[in-house]
Amino acid sequence: MKHFIQSIILASIALYGNAQTTTSTCSNDSHYVPTAENIKARNNFSDSRFGIFLHWGIYSTFAQGEWFLNYGPNKDEYAKAADAFYPHRFDAEKWISAIKASGAKYICFTTRHHDGFSMWDTKQSDYNIMHTPYGKDVVRQLADACHKQNIGLHLYYSHIDWTREDYPAGRTGNTTGKDPKKADWNHYYKFMNAQLTELLTKYGKVDGIWFDGWWDHDEDSVPFNWQLSEQYRMIHSLQPACIIGNNHHQTPFEGEDMQMFERDIPGENKSGLSGQSISQLPLETCQTMNGMWGYKIKDQDYKSPKELIRLLVRTAAKGANLLLNIGPQPNGELPATALDRLSDMGKWLNSKAGESIYATVRGNINVGDSIVSTMGKGKNAPLYIHVLSDTVPSSVTLPIKSKIKNAVNLENGNKIKYQRNGKAGTISFMTDRQDNDNTDYIIKVEF
Ligand code: GLC
Repeated sequence: MKHFIQSIILASIALYGNAQTTTSTCSNDSHYVPTAENIKARNNFSDSRFGIFLHWGIYSTFAQGEWFLNYGPNKDEYAKAADAFYPHRFDAEKWISAIKASGAKYICFTTRHHDGFSMWDTKQSDYNIMHTPYGKDVVRQLADACHKQNIGLHLYYSHIDWTREDYPAGRTGNTTGKDPKKADWNHYYKFMNAQLTELLTKYGKVDGIWFDGWWDHDEDSVPFNWQLSEQYRMIHSLQPACIIGNNHHQTPFEGEDMQMFERDIPGENKSGLSGQSISQLPLETCQTMNGMWGYKIKDQDYKSPKELIRLLVRTAAKGANLLLNIGPQPNGELPATALDRLSDMGKWLNSKAGESIYATVRGNINVGDSIVSTMGKGKNAPLYIHVLSDTVPSSVTLPIKSKIKNAVNLENGNKIKYQRNGKAGTISFMTDRQDNDNTDYIIKVEF
């Protein structure tokens, strides 16, 4: 009930926050009014459609995923991994080049995950990358590479900390050996804001902050006060264009600029984390390439290139971005299979198909999972029909009422014959190939 009421209140705030015509500057009253530069950044973000999530920290040395600390180890024993972290093959430029070649337009990097280890030269705690044998600021190198190669930089930041005593633990991280009596929210909150200030003042343009962990207190009997509005205001005052998102699995809260969905495309709830209603803010679905976010040695169950391309298409057809995850190895390299997938995505996005994904909006023609659509923007924008079945049918019949000027196979430019079916209000498109090795057969329709 608590969440339900909260969702309703927040849904109206989310709608308010997205007023696309708003041009006023940041206000100090209780309502968040995004600045013109923030609205512009939101639109650019939506247009980009594809980003790469990177979960990397000292947890990669255990090769058991980023939640390893939650499942048994004592925090002080776990922390010894910092003294062994030496990713001698890490090359930020190389990562970003491979990501750029995949057609992705931004990254989201875990600056500090739930284990509490910071991947930059923070002055707020010694539990950071400078105190490892590697001793170099990873966030700095990635930020520089992103800026140089014109790739957007989003920073993941955990609200949870399974190591620090001052973070008041919720339903996770209770077996790491912290003394609950030492919890001190005010102290922890100041620490987080000081860290965020570093990230937003010392690393150039930051395109987004991606919060995670709110759900740690979603079962508290007394609602936990995360003081998000103040934190969001601080971020927007430091970088007004910075897009704030929070992986709370709720409809967006006041002050947020995007809505994310974990492991589900908007409107679906296969993972059980996405029952929330969909706001008018830019949308993003995050999903893993294999099973886990952080590097896990046994997790070789990679989705095929076909599955990933279709996931991107289905996400775009819902008007959302796909943030596709890679868990880099402890040696600093991206796993070879992940590199292969990046290259396959790039081949597809850099072909004609790209035009049906970038800077599109959700389409209104969908037949279950097998036929979805995206649309260009503006008046007389083309419709892109994506046929996602392995075998291309000889004809596709769809409920289209508008008058069609032209239909082509986007891939090869061949004209596609079509016929209107009398009063049925449908049009049948005759495909120009019927092979059974199809990933996405795209018909571009102009009106
Ligand atoms: C969850 C997990 C976290 C992961 C995130 C990505 O919130 O706690 O490990 O970073 O999802 O969506």
